[in-house]
Amino acid sequence: MNVLAKQLNDTIKNENPYIYNMLSNLGKNVFYPKGILSQSAEASKKAYRFNATIGIATENSQPMHFKHIQDKLVGYSPKDIYPYAAPEGKKSLREAWKEKLLRENPSLQNKSIGLPIVTNALTHGLSIAADLFVDPYDTIIVPDKYWGNYHSIFHVRRGGNLVTFPLFDEKQQFNISSFRECLLKQSLSGKAIVLLNFPNNPTGYTPHIEEAERIISVLYEAALADIKLVVLLDDAYFGLFYEDSIKESLFGRLAGLHPKILPIKIDGATKENYVWGFRVGFLTYAAESEAVLAALEGKTKGIIRGTISSSSHLSQTITLDSLQSKWFEEEKQEKFKILERRAKKVKEILEKEKYKNKYWTYYPFNSGYFMCLRLIKLNAEKLRLHLLDHYGVGTIAINNMDLRIAFSSVEEKDLEELFDLIYKGAKDLEEKGE
Ligand SMILES: Cc1ncc(COP(=O)(O)O)c(C=O)c1O
Repeated sequence: MNVLAKQLNDTIKNENPYIYNMLSNLGKNVFYPKGILSQSAEASKKAYRFNATIGIATENSQPMHFKHIQDKLVGYSPKDIYPYAAPEGKKSLREAWKEKLLRENPSLQNKSIGLPIVTNALTHGLSIAADLFVDPYDTIIVPDKYWGNYHSIFHVRRGGNLVTFPLFDEKQQFNISSFRECLLKQSLSGKAIVLLNFPNNPTGYTPHIEEAERIISVLYEAALADIKLVVLLDDAYFGLFYEDSIKESLFGRLAGLHPKILPIKIDGATKENYVWGFRVGFLTYAAESEAVLAALEGKTKGIIRGTISSSSHLSQTITLDSLQSKWFEEEKQEKFKILERRAKKVKEILEKEKYKNKYWTYYPFNSGYFMCLRLIKLNAEKLRLHLLDHYGVGTIAINNMDLRIAFSSVEEKDLEELFDLIYKGAKDLEEKGE
């Protein structure tokens, strides 16, 4: 094993052996090399005459660049666009995101967390976590309603087994007893990765305070039962809470809860700030020891350096500039209100007598971009295709029964018509006996 990897491992082992044992084989072997980037970082501090280290070109004391590009990027300085950003991201952006986390998650006050590490948006953050913590056949516990890409990230790429529990119980609340049962079954292997995503894709659900408290206490109980838990909080839709759910990430409550629990927050600007194509996300660790936080950051940088090397500098610069803009809060609130109105409108429509228990019921939703219809008899894929072919309406069939509707991408004024067309499509299929 490389001596630098060993140093990181020894640090983690000495401070918290449980976290060391959570690492995958790759996670144990990975380290951030003292290669070109670290020599170049040293030079950028000390080389006052010539810096002939890094593979970019310079001209007139600036990064070399095309005028026809720069002319369109008015307001951004070449130094904040063209050079490579550090693998862990722009320091100022990381600090700004941490401030945001602390502001928006009161439970994080006085908790020990690392500086958010910039990722190429959330998929990449999830993939880094999979690289560092998932070995073939490891268990990843996830509700039965989950974002389909988890399968590629955790199962196809890393060989982990996704083990699901029903998200809702018969009272249409978070199914705490199934979650508990699923978790406690892991005492045989002594390790599990738990993946929680609220607001949830596809249902649009976020737990209420009592449910959240039960989730935390069940995780605590599992840690007491000697199960090491990597808890991934996929907070892609953070902040879009329209009703009386919790309004902060479970990350805050999990931080510092138990040494056998490693909480990792995966979030980003993608959905929160409506910049899907920018590819700016963050991965944040919570651990009691500064040394562990630093070692985990070293390993994370190692994975980034060996995969994408670094994320887009321009996207990071624009994201930072936006976070610092005087318009940020106002515009964010404006967009929130639009989505909130759409969510309320959808509920109002679904409560109409005509729709009730005819072709569908729906899963509870109170947040995020989506809601999910549960078809009573019809097949979701058949209905999806019929809606597409006959009505020009696109929806997502999650499985045989569930049809996901992204109200985030339909104007409020069109929602009535959308559900009316879905109803018509369902009626057609019923009449055809399908
Ligand atoms: C729950 C969830 N997590 C992560 C992602 C991926 O986000 P990103 O585009 O930032 O990679 C999505 C995107 O649909 C999502 O729904």
